[in-house]
Amino acid sequence: MERIRRRMQEVGSRREFLTGVAALGAVAAIPAPLRGLRIERTAPADSSGAGSLRAHAAARGLMYGTAVNPVLLDLEGATGGNSTDPYTRLVAEQANILVAENSMKWGALRPTADRFDFTQGDRLLRFAGIEGQLVRGHNLCWHQSVPAWLTRTASKDNAREILTHHIQVVAGHYRGKLHSWDVVNEAVHPSDGLPDGLRKTLWLDLIGPDYLELAFRTAAAADPEAKLTYNDYGIELDTPEDVKKREMVLGLLKRFKAKGVPIHAVGVQSHLDATGPQPGQGLKEFIREAARMDLEVYVTEMDVNTHAVVGSREAQDRAVAAVFGNYMRLALAEPNVPMTLTWGITSAHTWLNDANTDQRRRPDGTPERPLPFDDRMMPTPAFLAIGEAIDRSRPSRSGNA
Ligand code: XIL
Repeated sequence: MERIRRRMQEVGSRREFLTGVAALGAVAAIPAPLRGLRIERTAPADSSGAGSLRAHAAARGLMYGTAVNPVLLDLEGATGGNSTDPYTRLVAEQANILVAENSMKWGALRPTADRFDFTQGDRLLRFAGIEGQLVRGHNLCWHQSVPAWLTRTASKDNAREILTHHIQVVAGHYRGKLHSWDVVNEAVHPSDGLPDGLRKTLWLDLIGPDYLELAFRTAAAADPEAKLTYNDYGIELDTPEDVKKREMVLGLLKRFKAKGVPIHAVGVQSHLDATGPQPGQGLKEFIREAARMDLEVYVTEMDVNTHAVVGSREAQDRAVAAVFGNYMRLALAEPNVPMTLTWGITSAHTWLNDANTDQRRRPDGTPERPLPFDDRMMPTPAFLAIGEAIDRSRPSRSGNA
């Protein structure tokens, strides 16, 4: 933890440097797409330096970050935000916390039953070390990204041992280096019809409901400093499905607490839709209920799809920015929400545009623009909305408004 605490201090001193740079920056008018939104201040023309989301977040003592693909990072050129590669520069500049989009999942780490491949995860850690960023681990136990060898060989006799061994080795490998771990991902799925709302997975099938507790206890022993997180989606809205799922997730968390299971946070993935119902009172109450259980809440995977927004690119961008702004204001108003990550930083790299995912597509066939930067690495209106929401969430550490 000491190392992580030092890292947070470095993030702070970088902020002071950046604040100095800010004083030199020009201000630009709010671009047309954002007019009418509740963006109250003009934004620096430059999205780098003091205008970056990293600087906005650091000034409020918050963590802001993104999921990344370590393969795309120019590790050799990484030197405090100065890489010549635009994607690498953006990741260094905008985030004070990173998570691997896929590289720390079973599918990436476990090519065979007896091999662990930490190449990409380690790359991410090295990059974050150079850029003074924290790293989250994602994830130790999930029903997806399950290697074929595991499905073939896991049985009621060996499943406990396989899960425990994986967590001991992986969490052990990164011991003391990660801010937090998504220990269990997406284990609740009320529509599977089980009384406790648990999802029917390989682990549930072979180990029983105790697999969750086993995962958390094993992770705590392997890395006592990481904040252990339960991460899920479909708990953001006030729709009947989300209300039900929230209830089930809260039930799970309460059972954990009653049994003394080591858990420190809940991750709310926050893959949102620009049309239809938006997060509201129910999520607020969920976050407060978590606070009463002494849990932090992390926004872990935010992006906003526009598959039902018809109209110009400007209309698309406006819709995305409005959802980001409202959502982040709601979440960051709660004192136990110290962290927001988007699932990617530019629309050049987002799972929503991946050809091989089963995401819904926009009716006009144009790509999604679900993130604070676009495919040309230019800030989108969502960039301003996020910065603004961060600014309004807490008093500035330096005492400035
Ligand atoms: C997604 C990645 O973004 C894709 O590249 C991959 O093909 C599938 O997984 N919830 C999660 C993430 O917890 O791990 C998922 O990431 C997105 C949904």
